[in-house]
Amino acid sequence: MPNWTPTFRADELVAPRRFEDGGHAVLIAIIEGEPHAVADSCLHKGTSLQGGVCKQGIITCPSHWWRYDLRDGALQGSSGVHLATFPCRIVDGTIEVALPDPTPSLSLRQQLLAHARSGRSSDA
Ligand code: FES
Repeated sequence: MPNWTPTFRADELVAPRRFEDGGHAVLIAIIEGEPHAVADSCLHKGTSLQGGVCKQGIITCPSHWWRYDLRDGALQGSSGVHLATFPCRIVDGTIEVALPDPTPSLSLRQQLLAHARSGRSSDA
C-alpha cells in the first residue's frame, strides 16, 4: 500500500518544484496535465534541479546543463540512465506522491558496531 503524501496544489504549481519529506527530496512537475515526481538530485553532482529551465517536460540542470525527461527521469543522451521516479496523482486538487518509507538512520556508534559485526561474521 503506497504511502501517499500531499505536496502542492496542482493549480499553484507553475514550474517544477522541490518537495522534501521523510529524508526524500523530489521534484514535482505537471506535464501536459499529468503530475510527475523524480528524485531531485542531479546524477552528475547532486545539485537540485529546481530552477532549471524546463521545456516540454525536459529540465536542464542549473549547474552543468545535464538534461532529464521529467516523465520518466531519463538522462537525455544516455540510454538506461535515469533519476528515480515516484508515483503521483491529483486528489481534490492536491498533488500526492507515493514515497517509500524513510530509511532509519543509524548513529555513528550503531554504524561502527554494524560494520565491526559484519567483519567478524565474514572472518568466521
Ligand atoms: S550537477 Fe547537474 S549537471 Fe552537474
